[in-house]
Amino acid sequence: MAILLIRQDGKTSQWLNAFKSQASQIECFDYNEPHPKETITMALVWKQPHGLFEQYKNLKCVASMGAGVDFIFEDPSFHQELLMTRVVDPLLITDMEEFVTAQVYAYMKGLYQYHSQQSFSLWQQNPYLRKKDITIGIMGMGVLGSATAKALSDQGFNVLGWSNSKKQIEGITTYEKVDLDLFLEKTNVLVCLLPLTPDTNGILNESLFSKLPRGAYLIHVARGPHLVGEDLIQSIDKGQMCGAAIDVFPTEPLDTKSPFWGHSKIHITPHCASISSPESVVAQIVVNYNRLTSHQPLLNQVDTLKGY
Ligand code: GLV
Repeated sequence: MAILLIRQDGKTSQWLNAFKSQASQIECFDYNEPHPKETITMALVWKQPHGLFEQYKNLKCVASMGAGVDFIFEDPSFHQELLMTRVVDPLLITDMEEFVTAQVYAYMKGLYQYHSQQSFSLWQQNPYLRKKDITIGIMGMGVLGSATAKALSDQGFNVLGWSNSKKQIEGITTYEKVDLDLFLEKTNVLVCLLPLTPDTNGILNESLFSKLPRGAYLIHVARGPHLVGEDLIQSIDKGQMCGAAIDVFPTEPLDTKSPFWGHSKIHITPHCASISSPESVVAQIVVNYNRLTSHQPLLNQVDTLKGY
């Protein structure tokens, strides 16, 4: 029995080293190196090339290296008999809380505006917002969404949460699926932390933006295909949205020709809101690998029918 590591960005060696130092008894292979295919029972993957899983007849579980699993569902060689797991990791959670909090403060204090004023040597104080002026609405109240909502609420922000099924979180007003419009009409900083599923693909579109109070701000840290890019630009140009911080894109790296790059009200980061640390994550993969070997239920298992 062995684990196969599959990612195309040349970063498998960090993961192999983490296994070597934390669980040297487990056999791990980089998919690009020669390996005995029949020994592979778990594939640990990040944006894997499609079509590989069917070559591994003893494969039982596909484990994501991150919190998201959308790229596994997109692979036609993933089939319903395979188990799927995702990462739930304290570092990923605090990284996301901090990133979203930083973006909220950057917006509230107008820091991006001052940064662009600097390129014109422009000394100009702008009006700014205070916490009481902002209602943050978080779409997606899974592990990352709930923790981020709580972190912002603990800092004195008014926070709302929207998710498929209603969640109970102290200090947060929550809405369920059918109450999307009620949630949107009260939200002026919208944070997207939804899983990407057929239901949520393209959800951040013109119609949704039009239901927010005029001049709302978007912080998008989920997955690129949630957002209809042209709709965002139009909504900003019409003043319905006042700007956006976007960390995720349908194609990454973002094309140098994308109109997002040159838009003064769109602030781009390279999918860095929260990045799995192999040293931190490998421990839970080892636990799951041992559970798989001894036929016990896995931790952080994804419901492959729901898609998250
Ligand atoms: C990052 O985007 C992740 O899914 O962990």
